[in-house]
Amino acid sequence: MKVLIIGGGGREHALAWKVSQSPRVKKIYAAPGNAGIAQLAECAPVKAEDIPGLLSFAKSRAVDLTIVGPEGPLSAGIVDEFQKAGLPVFGPSRKAAEIEANKAFTKDLMKKYGIPSADYGVFTDKAAAEDYVRRTGAPIVVKAAGLAAGKGVVVAETVDEAIAALDMIMAKKTFGAAGDVVVIEECLKGEEASFMAFTDGKTVVPMASSQDHKRVFDADKGPNTGGMGAYSPAPVVTKKLEKQVMDKVMIPTVRAMEKEGRLFKGVLYAGLMIHDGTAKVLEFNARFGDPETQPIMARLESDLIDLIEAILGGRLSKIDIRWKPDSAVCVVMASAGYPGSYEKGVEITGLEKAAARPGVMVFHSGTAQRNGKVVTDGGRVLGVTGLGASVAAAIDRAYAGVRDIYFEGAHYRHDIGARALEEGN
Ligand code: AMP
Ligand code: GLY
Repeated sequence: MKVLIIGGGGREHALAWKVSQSPRVKKIYAAPGNAGIAQLAECAPVKAEDIPGLLSFAKSRAVDLTIVGPEGPLSAGIVDEFQKAGLPVFGPSRKAAEIEANKAFTKDLMKKYGIPSADYGVFTDKAAAEDYVRRTGAPIVVKAAGLAAGKGVVVAETVDEAIAALDMIMAKKTFGAAGDVVVIEECLKGEEASFMAFTDGKTVVPMASSQDHKRVFDADKGPNTGGMGAYSPAPVVTKKLEKQVMDKVMIPTVRAMEKEGRLFKGVLYAGLMIHDGTAKVLEFNARFGDPETQPIMARLESDLIDLIEAILGGRLSKIDIRWKPDSAVCVVMASAGYPGSYEKGVEITGLEKAAARPGVMVFHSGTAQRNGKVVTDGGRVLGVTGLGASVAAAIDRAYAGVRDIYFEGAHYRHDIGARALEEGN
């Protein structure tokens, strides 16, 4: 079968790597892909947001299955358009993807169905929002309701900071129309974890647990990023907590979406805050996480194509998902300056040496090929992923791979997976 993967980040490289291991797959296309994906797939220069372009590409190559990585095309309705054209596609419909694309909708949904989450208010009027912030006090969290590439959330330590965030989002329109509506939330404390599940709209099957590292510097210092690394499993997600999250969050949410006429098929991702053994939802994503997917795919034993087909056919309840018992750790190597401004086109060396190590997968995020060389092409450049019998072994492998690779100004965190070690594994 021929598979098209939409997107060009580390998540999509990990998906392409996993799909390439399916004996059923004869050909992989990616749009737009990157230099790493190009080793496994034929990359087409079509942007992930160009839905008509993707549709005509998929038709012209008689693609049998399309897997959508990023939220942009999902919330723009790529799944609806492919389905109309009779093309099998993995991901939620536009209406279902609103669970990620519209935080005001999602907060109201959680409230209506009793899904645990922070207290909140929704505002379109800046003066009313400021008034709410002053009455509630700090710390407080201000969020643009729409999609803002993971940057539309400010955890404000003071009232002044929260007011400044409202100014940035509602008056200066830093995130454009994504900031027309603002959600203001109670600031939750605890430890974060990523909880992803496959669902066909009825059956919900959890993936292995994982944890992301959002801050740019060691010990969770510095500004938020798209994610500087991830590991799986996450010891904070105990069997007991997994059951709680399934019973109180994932299953009720999938049921709620069905009741609201927004049947959710695909990957439902809950960003959780865990405090005293209880999980509350920070956000939902309508897709695989990035970089969580890199360690998760490294650990997935089952054939991803079989799984996806079961979801599309509404047969997920008949499928058994198998995971490797190993741990996986993904260390992101970023461009100098990231998450601020950075240069592109810096040559990367040592990739083959790292990839040749046993248990090391070098997933590319922002890379491109120029004159036979691999160069940087984004803020997050690589996700060097180690798989090992223990967290410690996975950490050692990932960092051995990282040390093989060089590009000028490269930076990465040195403590990815350290928390999993502390929490005992
Ligand atoms: P979100 O995109 O909504 O997950 O927010 C991005 C990040 O902001 C989360 O990963 C948390 O670190 C933080 N955050 C979001 N909502 C809250 C909240 N209610 N309390 C504390 N931190 C939050
Ligand atoms: N790692 C966070 C996300 O995928 O949104």
